[in-house]
Amino acid sequence: MNLLLSEEQKLLQQTLRTFVDKEIRPHAAEIDRERRFPVENVRRCADMSLMGIMVPQEHGGSGMDALSYTIVIEELSRACATTGVIVSVNNSLVCAPLLAYGSKEQKEKYLKPLAAGEMLGCFALTEPNAGSDAAALRTRAEKKGRDYLLSGNKVFVTNGTAADVALVFASTDLSKKHKGISAFIVESGFPGFRRGREERKLGITASGSREIVLDRCQVPAANLLGAEGEGLKIALSTLDGGRVGIAAQAVGIAQAVLDEGIRYSQQRVQFGKPISEFQAIQWMLADIATETEAARLLTYRAARAEESQQRYSYEASVAKLFASETAMRAATKGVQILGGYGYVSDYPMERYFRDAKVTEIYEGTSEIQRLVIAEHVLKDGAS
Ligand code: CAA
Repeated sequence: MNLLLSEEQKLLQQTLRTFVDKEIRPHAAEIDRERRFPVENVRRCADMSLMGIMVPQEHGGSGMDALSYTIVIEELSRACATTGVIVSVNNSLVCAPLLAYGSKEQKEKYLKPLAAGEMLGCFALTEPNAGSDAAALRTRAEKKGRDYLLSGNKVFVTNGTAADVALVFASTDLSKKHKGISAFIVESGFPGFRRGREERKLGITASGSREIVLDRCQVPAANLLGAEGEGLKIALSTLDGGRVGIAAQAVGIAQAVLDEGIRYSQQRVQFGKPISEFQAIQWMLADIATETEAARLLTYRAARAEESQQRYSYEASVAKLFASETAMRAATKGVQILGGYGYVSDYPMERYFRDAKVTEIYEGTSEIQRLVIAEHVLKDGAS
């Protein structure tokens, strides 16, 4: 029973489940095995109007609220966490900042096609020596006439393999530290833009995590997003929304673990009865169920906070921290429930285990979430 969703949101959830069962789940194991970026899933999600969920319809999106967005990401990730993050990045990390900070022209030229799924976006912040310490980035942006020339290397860029547009963070003045950072909308076709190495990863193997090399990449000044020097604030406020999306992804993975744990334990017979009749298994299932419910509630709360138009870093970090660690604990128990079958790729549990891990790392590690949370409670007390 879900007492927190409106009738409309319940209908959305049901529609998503039907869509995902038919179009996404059947291909999840294969794209994971082949490590192939699922362009066809992006098209399917675009056909379902899922690429700009919170973008108003006038800008090409679906005009839904943040809670509806978490429902979508949870349901996609329950079937295929790779597809979940691809859709989440386009929504949270590209469409959202364009909507919040973009000029009228930028919205028309980029937000509209991104929200409609006619273009795919990626978020290029991380560098080899600037991960958790995002402000330490070294990519330079040099103003030359009516252009900026961007030079540097971005790594671990989700969607980097297929993106048409990258939101790139670069410094116009390294001596100004984080106040020298600006955000740029960079088309993959701009001179000096090149895709580098694609990472071979433990989990979410098909999300196209790619290096992006900028070699005096020529970006028109009109593609500066927000004001010069506002880049880190744009990045960090954008990541608040991203973290709500990753929390939803983690809830989806934890729910998938529970689904599979129930299914398997009811049909696996040992010592003359289904293993679901053993208390050791029941307790594991009960813990997974309880923690998943709690993670979902925190994620819904973070989504509500996002809609409040006030800063919601605390709620986003609490949800992301708890949901990602829930997914990892759940998947560890899930593998244990399946025993040897949890360790082989004939069953989906080992994929859930591999996929869960990254939710504790990307869009801010668990340690960074604790830092944000501690800063908030020490300053303002708990909410
Ligand atoms: N919203 C708005 N403004 C914010 C903000 C937020 N959430 N967080 C910080 N700011 C502002 C601050 O107020 C400050 O502004 P002023 O200078 O005007 O006061 C400025 O931004 C810098 O803030 P801090 O001094 O707190 O910044 P910091 O350098 O100490 O960093 C941090 C803080 C929490 C460690 C931050 O760097 C961080 O979150 N790091 C993790 C980076 C991360 O999550 N990377 C993920 C990469 S993207 C990815 O994974 C996507 C993918 O592909 C899936």
